Amino acid sequence: MLNVRMNNSKITVYVVSCWIFAAFGGLMFGYDIGISGGVSAMDDFLIKFFPHVYQTKLHAKENNYCKYDNWLLQLFTSSLYISALFASFFASKAATKLGRRTTILIASIFFIVGAVLSAVAKNKLMLIFGRILFGIGVGFGNETVPLFLTEVAPIQHRGAVNIMFQLFVTIGIFIANLVNYGTSMIHPYGWRISLGFAAIPAVILCIGCFVITDTPTSLIERGNEEQGKSTLVKIRGVSDVEAEYKEIVAECEQAKQVKQQSLKNLLKPASIPPLVIGVLLQVFQQFTGINAIMFYAPVLFQTMGFKANASLLSSVITGIVNVGSTFVSIYLVDKVGRRKLLLQACCQMLISQLAIGAILVTSLSETGTLNRTLAAIVVLLVCTYVMSFAWSWGPLGWLIPSETFPLETRTTGFAFAVSTNMLFTSIVAQLFLTMLCTMKAYIFFFFSGWIVVMGLFVYFFLPETKGVPIDSMVERVWMQHPIWKRLF
Ligand code: BGC
Repeated sequence: MLNVRMNNSKITVYVVSCWIFAAFGGLMFGYDIGISGGVSAMDDFLIKFFPHVYQTKLHAKENNYCKYDNWLLQLFTSSLYISALFASFFASKAATKLGRRTTILIASIFFIVGAVLSAVAKNKLMLIFGRILFGIGVGFGNETVPLFLTEVAPIQHRGAVNIMFQLFVTIGIFIANLVNYGTSMIHPYGWRISLGFAAIPAVILCIGCFVITDTPTSLIERGNEEQGKSTLVKIRGVSDVEAEYKEIVAECEQAKQVKQQSLKNLLKPASIPPLVIGVLLQVFQQFTGINAIMFYAPVLFQTMGFKANASLLSSVITGIVNVGSTFVSIYLVDKVGRRKLLLQACCQMLISQLAIGAILVTSLSETGTLNRTLAAIVVLLVCTYVMSFAWSWGPLGWLIPSETFPLETRTTGFAFAVSTNMLFTSIVAQLFLTMLCTMKAYIFFFFSGWIVVMGLFVYFFLPETKGVPIDSMVERVWMQHPIWKRLF
């Protein structure tokens, strides 16, 4: 059966357009990760919305490890993730009832309105409201785009196609950093341009929704068998799709036997392993410390003695490494598999973090700088760290939960993974500065400890899912696994 499916597809211009358009959902998410920190550091922005914060910041005592920290500003960043967290559950219902394509369309509309509202904001209320709408857009997009890509991908390229989401996340982060660098020199409304530009990927996504198709699984699940079959022919680029069509129909029939997307189903044996894995992968993804690097790289690079253009330099370096290494993952994920990438990256991230921690603990005081050689070594280590995250925990945190749930819990189960990501992203954003101030360079050892835990988790609990049809996970993966098989 597997071989039939593998041979039966061609990569057509149409299907590639579907992947690219949908992946713009990732660009919206990445753009926001990249834009918020920079905007909330712009003086014009602070003077307009948070004048007290600005005054306090002018007189704040900072050193290498204790940067200015304000809960209201952090709330500005986190409000988006908190609204995305709740939105992902509504999105899961929409993805089941209305289909994947319509849900992506809804995401793009929320995002466009949110971007416009934030860009023209006259007061705090408008600004926060804009953030909440942005957040709903992110929640709907992150819930649906990875599922969409997984469901339309031919099985032998499923990993690579899904990783287009993460590729666009990394491109979004990179573009946002460049935009912020440019707009920080435009007074007094540069921040408006930064926030408003978010509408561009959203408009492209919105237009794309009229080009892309819904997934065959979603169409058949909602009773449109004929359309599901013709869509399958269209996206596979061949006329004989009978075998795959029958498998999807069987999967939908099986899902119909139980009450769809109900929370109770998540506690049944077939859904427990993907739920535990999906949620923990997202917790671990954030505890790699990646967003501490993504949000605070400029501060870190300045600390290490890079003076002029430190923030541009740091975002260009980490941005290029992040985007470039994601291609490595696209190339390797369906060849070497998911487990090897995750385990290899744990080793590389661990060595990088331990070495950064050791250098900073021994050579960087609270007020001094590193010497040039050590600073260059730390930059190199940040790159080896970002590189390994980008070909492993970054993309696979989204891929694995999207391919392991059975259809009856796919959208609800994935919503748990998405909301966990949102929750832990905001926790890291909220707590990192305080932790850095208390733990100093030892914070790198804190993240290293987590990397050991996640490596062990992958080794013992995460089975390989490369090349397994998504509708055969129970028999071919969970029932064969030394630990998970005990559930059946
Ligand atoms: C993560 C983000 C992170 C980004 C970095 C994503 O997979 O969910 O939190 O900022 O990767 O590229």
